[in-house]
Formats: sequence, C-alpha cells, structure tokens
Amino acid sequence: MKIAPSLLSADFSRIADQIGVVERAGADYLHLDVMDGRFVPNITWGPKIIGDLRHLTRLPFDAHLMIVEPERYVEQFRAAGADIITVHLEACVHLQRAVAHIRSLGARAGVSLNPSTPVVLLEDVIGDLDLVLIMSVNPGFGGQSFLPVTLKKLREAREMIDEFNPACELEVDGGVGRENIREVVAAGADVLVMGSSIFGAPDPATALRALRTLAEAPAAGKR
Ligand code: DX5
Ligand code: ZN
Repeated sequence: MKIAPSLLSADFSRIADQIGVVERAGADYLHLDVMDGRFVPNITWGPKIIGDLRHLTRLPFDAHLMIVEPERYVEQFRAAGADIITVHLEACVHLQRAVAHIRSLGARAGVSLNPSTPVVLLEDVIGDLDLVLIMSVNPGFGGQSFLPVTLKKLREAREMIDEFNPACELEVDGGVGRENIREVVAAGADVLVMGSSIFGAPDPATALRALRTLAEAPAAGKR
C-alpha cells in the first residue's frame, strides 16, 4: 500500500518542515495538485514551485495536473522533477498521444477520471498507463466529502487493471480518511492520496502512520 500526502493541505509557510515530516513518517509519494483556475475553480502552483521543492526531498513527485491542455506543459513539469505525471481524461483530446509523450520523457504516465466519467473510457489506453487516478471528489479543493459512488468505479478500474495491465497502480484521491480507508482499499486502491487527513491533523506524522496501519490491516475474514 502506498500513501501519497497531498501538499494542497500543507502549510506553505513552513513547507520544508512539512515535507520532511511526511517523508520521515514513511510517505511513498508526494502528491502535487496543479490547478489552473479553468479545468477546476482553483489555482495552485506550476513548474517553478515544483522545481524549488525538488531539492527538499527524495520522495517521488506525483504531479496531478488539473489543467486544460495538459500536454502543453508536461515537458516543463518533467524538467521540474515530476516522476509521475497524471493528466485528466476530460482535459485531453488526444489522450494516447499525451500518455506516450509523458513516457517518452522518462516519467510514469497517469490518467485521472472525474467522479462522473465512466471507467470504460480507459479501455483503449489502459495498456499504456502506469497509474489510474480515480477522483473520489470533484477536483479543485481539499477537505471535501468522499463520494461513495466512486467505490464502484474503483472496483471496475481494479478489474480492468488486473485483466489488462497488472503493473498499473490504482490511486484514489479525495475525502479519504479513517472513516473510509478500509473501504477504498477493499475496492482495490493501492495508492492513497490524502491531504486534510494528514496535514489537517494536529500531528501529521502520527496521522500518516495510523492511516497506514488501518489501510494495511488484514481484511476481516482473512486473518
Ligand atoms: C483535490 C485534489 C486532492 C486534494 C485531496 O482536487 O486533487 O489531491 O488535495 O484533499 P483531501 O484528502 O483533503 O480530500
Ligand atoms: Zn490530487
């Protein structure tokens, strides 16, 4: 099980400290939410900030591009140090080309689906992916409530991955915390993005470790 703390909920006035805390607590990826105010109604940061953060940690950078025409920027995000570059299916007219471009730059390629986008649309590209990201909230903000309808999508994506590309990771993003972490793991997620559940906690390191323990506990009946 991999845990990817989302910096969206971190305190940027002490960002080096916040990154160090989750790295020492055993985070697997650092999830970086790039928003442009067009694909989503919020704005965060671009390649310059990601490049500046790069020297603070050895954690792989998991860049989630919530921007229109993401293919125009993948080279810049790769140069800034992104290891995984995830684009939204809804934002790409030529999805296969975007994915191939990301891989040609030596990054791992991910595709994300909004809650209302059906998993079946990944069928013809699944073999080319390193990661599928199922949004469990409408993207744009941290701290939103998990949409239970997305559990079915996780199960469908799990089935598709198991059948066509078992090496592909299945990431879930939005509203994941102690109340539903067991359910998202049972539904097949193997990378858990968490923002407010980690950085919104009084002690992010303790929160991360407790969430991992919950996520990795054997399922009932399998002990
Ligand atoms: C939302 C972002 C998420 C966000 C999740 O659009 O893609 O990565 O940080 O935050 P939480 O875990 O608080 O829902
Ligand atoms: Zn995200």
